[in-house]
Formats: sequence, structure tokens, C-alpha cells
Amino acid sequence: MKRLEGKYALITGASQGLGLQLAIEFAREGAARIAIVARREELLQQACNLIRATAPEVTVLAIAADLAQPQEIERVVATTLNEFQGRLDILVNNASTIGPTPMPYLLDYPLVDFHNVLNTNLIAPFLLIKKVLPAMLERGGSIINVTSDAGITGYPGWGAYGISKFGLEGLSQTWAAELEDSNVRVNWVDPGNMNTAMHRAAEPDEDPNQWANPSEVTDIFIYLASDESQSVNGQRFQAQPDEETGEAIAEVA
Ligand SMILES: NC(=O)c1ccc[n+]([C@@H]2O[C@H](COP(=O)([O-])OP(=O)(O)OC[C@H]3O[C@@H](n4cnc5c(N)ncnc54)[C@H](OP(=O)(O)O)[C@@H]3O)[C@@H](O)[C@H]2O)c1
Repeated sequence: MKRLEGKYALITGASQGLGLQLAIEFAREGAARIAIVARREELLQQACNLIRATAPEVTVLAIAADLAQPQEIERVVATTLNEFQGRLDILVNNASTIGPTPMPYLLDYPLVDFHNVLNTNLIAPFLLIKKVLPAMLERGGSIINVTSDAGITGYPGWGAYGISKFGLEGLSQTWAAELEDSNVRVNWVDPGNMNTAMHRAAEPDEDPNQWANPSEVTDIFIYLASDESQSVNGQRFQAQPDEETGEAIAEVA
């Protein structure tokens, strides 16, 4: 039996990087329907092809949308629930933007960029959870928010991105506490350093080969998406061993 047999999932930012890898792994684990969201249509279509090539029986719904726009979130949720006959088992809030690069210090941070980063990385997950919840409460479900170590430590230069992830940590804790007595669970995962477009843009002088391939960090997401984690709520996970302690997947919260 596959671990996500028959599940219906919505994964944001699944045209590349971690989100795409999650969509591929979810399909491999038997998810029946997967909605993927990103702005660039061409990359989304390529992602669809890759996911279908992994599991030809999966239904993939590609929605091109800018999650920084609240009205676009309405459309994403309405389209998904319409295509999925009102059912959603898994939401992964993965889409994020790093903001302007090279990454400016807060003193130089343009307000328009600050707003855009917070809208994409924090307001969008808030609204997506709010909008999918009525459908999820009927059958139960799993919400997974993708955070970062920049969400628990204020690194110089990581500006609005880090601050948005601090917000996402609080958002996740609060949703989890408010949903404690429901059959919907909210957990959040720091995937650790990965070799993706976002990280290469953030640290162009670093050797990206030192960072993990997204395929190395997906196990914890499959666990949290599957029924194996049905009683797990309000927990923070690290997908990679802690750099300082070397501890394996750590449950911090
Ligand atoms: N890479 C790392 O080392 C690292 C470390 C810790 C945490 N993370 C977290 O892991 C997650 C995935 O990151 P990644 O490294 O895989 O990033 P990535 O390769 O840059 O992918 C980001 C995805 O989000 C989409 N996206 C960005 N802005 C969007 C918007 N306004 N509306 C809709 N979609 C949008 C992008 O597509 P479009 O640009 O076409 O919209 C893309 O599909 C993020 O939450 C990130 O914060 C990453």
C-alpha cells in the first residue's frame, strides 16, 4: 500500500525546487489528485509533465497564479475544490520568495518589496488555510507549512524573508492551537539548505553543491501528509540533521 494512496493535495510553488519534488514524491506515493500553483505557466506545464511521467494515473491540476494577490488565492482555492469535488486532504504552503537580490539590509529595504515578500510568504498561507479549512474539516486533513532557520534566527540581510518566516512560525502555532480539537492538523518543516534557484539567488558566491538536493528532504513531508501522522499537530520539524548538533530529524516545538 502506498503511503498517500488516493489523497487529494494542493502544493504551492510546485513548478520547481522543493515544491516540484514534493509533487513528484506525492504522486509516487499514490496521491490521486495534485493541484500545483506558481506564477510562470511554462514551468508549471513542464512540472505537470514530470509529475505525470512519474505516475501516469495521477490527475495534475496546474493553476498559474500570483499568491501575493488575495483575489488570486480565492481563484486557486475555488478552482481546486471545483476540480476535486469539494475535497482536499493535504495543503502544503511551500511557495516563497526571497525578495530582492542581492539581499538588502533592512535600512535599505524597499517597502514595496517588503510588502510583496510578506504577502507571498505569510499572508498567502494564512488565506489559503482559511479558505480550504471548511472543505478539510469534513474529512480531516494535513496542513504543512514550509519554514526556515531564518524564521527562528534573525540573520543580517535575510530581511523580509526571515521576518516572513518568523510570522509563518507564529501563524502555524496559532492555527495548530485553534484546530487542536479538530481533525485537521497543522505542522511546519524547515527543509534545511537545498540546492534550488532560491538559495542560489540568495547566496550566489557559495558553492550550491554543498546543499542538499530537494529529493533528500521529502520523507518528513510524506509522513506528515500521510495518515501515519494523524495524531501529530503543532510540531516543528527539521528535514535535515542539525548542523551544530548533528542530530537527526529533530522535533523542536
Ligand atoms: N532552498 C533552501 O535552501 C531553503 C531553505 C529553507 C527553507 N526553504 C523554503 O523551502 C520552500 C521552497 O523553496 P525553494 O528553495 O524550492 O524555492 P524555489 O526553487 O525558488 O521555488 C519557489 C516556488 O514558489 C513559486 N512562487 C514564488 N513566488 C510565488 C508567488 N507570488 N505566487 C505563486 N508562486 C510563487 C515559484 O514559482 P514562480 O516563480 O513561477 O511563481 C516556485 O515554484 C520555500 O518556502 C523556502 O522558503 C528553502
